[in-house]
Amino acid sequence: MQPQSQRGFFITFEGLDGSGKTTQIKRLTAWLAARNIAPVVTRQPGGTETGDRIRALLLDSKSTGLSPKTELAMMFADRAQAIEEIIAPALRTGKIVVCDRFTDSTEAYQGCGRELGSQIVLELHRLICNDLRPDLTILLLPDLAASLARARRRNTHQTSVTGKDESRFEQEQNSFFHRVYTGYKAIAAREPDRVLVIEGDLTVEEVHAQVTRAVSSMLRQMNLISS
Ligand code: TMP
Repeated sequence: MQPQSQRGFFITFEGLDGSGKTTQIKRLTAWLAARNIAPVVTRQPGGTETGDRIRALLLDSKSTGLSPKTELAMMFADRAQAIEEIIAPALRTGKIVVCDRFTDSTEAYQGCGRELGSQIVLELHRLICNDLRPDLTILLLPDLAASLARARRRNTHQTSVTGKDESRFEQEQNSFFHRVYTGYKAIAAREPDRVLVIEGDLTVEEVHAQVTRAVSSMLRQMNLISS
């Protein structure tokens, strides 16, 4: 893992469950494809064979009694594998990597939601991820109640269609998600140069316009696109 020598461009999407990340990542991928750019798109937890197994264990509501530190360690186990297998090799060959969640999720959910604190998360990030820092993080923060309602509806639908249960986090109390929300706000305030916050009750189109504005300005600086 040698993030310092990376030549590609690392974009992460962050936000609460149901904040619209998946839709926006699809829209951004299509926007890049129209400019002849094929990004490497991945997600956490998951994205590798090992990561998908870790994801199943982490998100299944039958995984009861996971201690916060076990959860934290599993998130980093997943991330270590994803960096090794997908992210670092892609960045080394100059690719654009778009990742649905990264260490900010761990800081917001395990650090703040589970109240383990930021320090342990940042320290593990340094030790395990070699401090790999996204070039741009898009943080989607629509209304908290609406996001959660959407995530819970989607999971009920998914379970009834595929039988796959990914609802362990959505079953948390609202106070947990309030702490996650506050955690995200604190990360954005600490690193305004990296984190673009898109807040409020916006349409998919309005959010997409803000995302592409930020991405195109970065890609222009790297001479990857001309307009
Ligand atoms: P998602 O793939 O639908 O975004 O769901 C992943 C869930 O895992 C979501 O509830 C957030 C949670 N999560 C953490 O708690 N910590 C992490 O580090 C990551 C990557 C995800």
